[in-house]
Parts: sequence; structure tokens; C-alpha cells
Amino acid sequence: MLYKRLERNLIHLAIVDSTNDYAANLIKTSEVPSGTTIVTSNQQKGRGQRSAMWTTQANKNLTFSLIFFSNEKIQKAFYLNIAASLAVFKTLSDLKIESKIKWPNDILVQGKKICGILIDNSFSGDKIQSSIIGIGLNVNQKDFGDLKEATSILNEIGQEVEVMDIYEQLFGYLDFYLNLLMESNYKILLQRYYEQLLGLNQEGEFESKGIKFRGIITGVSEIGLLKIQTSEGTKEFDLKEIRMSYPSNFF
Ligand code: BTN
Repeated sequence: MLYKRLERNLIHLAIVDSTNDYAANLIKTSEVPSGTTIVTSNQQKGRGQRSAMWTTQANKNLTFSLIFFSNEKIQKAFYLNIAASLAVFKTLSDLKIESKIKWPNDILVQGKKICGILIDNSFSGDKIQSSIIGIGLNVNQKDFGDLKEATSILNEIGQEVEVMDIYEQLFGYLDFYLNLLMESNYKILLQRYYEQLLGLNQEGEFESKGIKFRGIITGVSEIGLLKIQTSEGTKEFDLKEIRMSYPSNFF
């Protein structure tokens, strides 16, 4: 089947609980094209990874979910995270902001988080039926309260930018990288991801199940587990199993 590029179909909501949840309901009740995006300037109950909340000031940041139908094999699901991370990385790089990808898909600038990504997939047999790529990118927010380790485009370049201009740029890169994925360019995607992966081949400190250890990130497995070389050999971890603290020379 010939792959069709993303369609521009933007649904702007003044206020919503979570754009990911809204998108999930939308695809249950209606047929929308791949690329359909739910964007809001006021998300009330944003969801993050590890069941965390994603809080964002109203009218300041880019908060959206893009619906993507790929029919990819389940085993390739992590490549969606790779494509989305690279799209954000490129968008920031165009603004002369140097960012790094913290596995699996946090985008950091000098150790501070500027963007979080949450992908909700639904499966049918051994295929991914639908993906909801949720992205929260801090754009014009200045203060993050107690969140010391957060930053925004404004804080990095010293000037405000149009939130929807950033969306346009990011949409273009999502289209590009998701197209690479649909053309089965897994090797290229993984290589680009490794080029930006924080801590790759460097020694860091980790914690798993309450036990601290030192190790070296050697890459990610085909299904997206983090591979760490430890004194007991190379181990693989999923997001719930591992915490990491990076030394400052990583950034
Ligand atoms: C994380 O870093 O924990 C992921 C955060 C993802 C937040 C985005 S904002 C748009 C979309 N809607 C949600 O409810 N979450 C994602």
C-alpha cells in the first residue's frame, strides 16, 4: 500500500483536559485522516510519562496531539518515539537551540527539559492500529515555579515566538521523519537518534529497583529498551525500571 503523507487537519480547542485523550475519543467516534492534530492553548489535565501530570501555563506553550495511522509492526513502535524526538530536535535546532534527547524522548537543553512527548498506541494483531503523538513544548513560558529543571524557547533565545509558527515547523519535520519511518529507514532513524542521545557511550549513575549502580549507555534495543553496560554485563531496562542521573559534563 502506498504511504500517504500527513494531512493538515488542525482542530483548535480553547480548553481541554488532555489533547491525547480528546484525540483517542475522536478516532473512536469518527474517521479522520493521518496527520489530524488537536491543539489547545489551555490544557487542564495533561498526561505525562510514568503516569505523571504535564502542567503548562495557558496561552504560552505548544500543546498538541497528532493522530498517525501507520500499520507498522508492533516491534517497531519505538521508531515513533525516535521520529517525534528528532522532529522536535530539528525544530529547536532551526532556532539555534542546541538540545539533546534523553531516552526515551525527553528533549533537554543544558540539562533542562524543554519538551515532553507521550505516544499512545493502539494495537490490532501484530500491527499498530493508531498512534497519538502528544507533544508539550515550552515556548513562551518564563517561570516554572518549583520546577528548576525546565526551560522554554523564550528562556533560551531571549525573545517570544509565535506558538503556531513553531507548530508549522514541527509539523513539517514530523511529516519528514514519519515518512522516513514509513519507508522503513530504521537504520537512518536510529543513527540520527544516537547522534543526539544524551549520555551515549558515557558513564553515568543509574538506579533500578532501589539499587544504585554505574554503567554506560550503549544504545537502545530494537523494541526501545535502554541498554546499559554494567559490571555484570549489558542489561536492558524499560522506562519504569530505571532512573538516571547524569553528570554535568554530559551537557
Ligand atoms: C512527559 O514528558 O512526561 C510527556 C509529556 C507529554 C505532554 C503532552 S502535552 C500534549 C499531549 N496531551 C497530553 O495529555 N500529554 C501530551
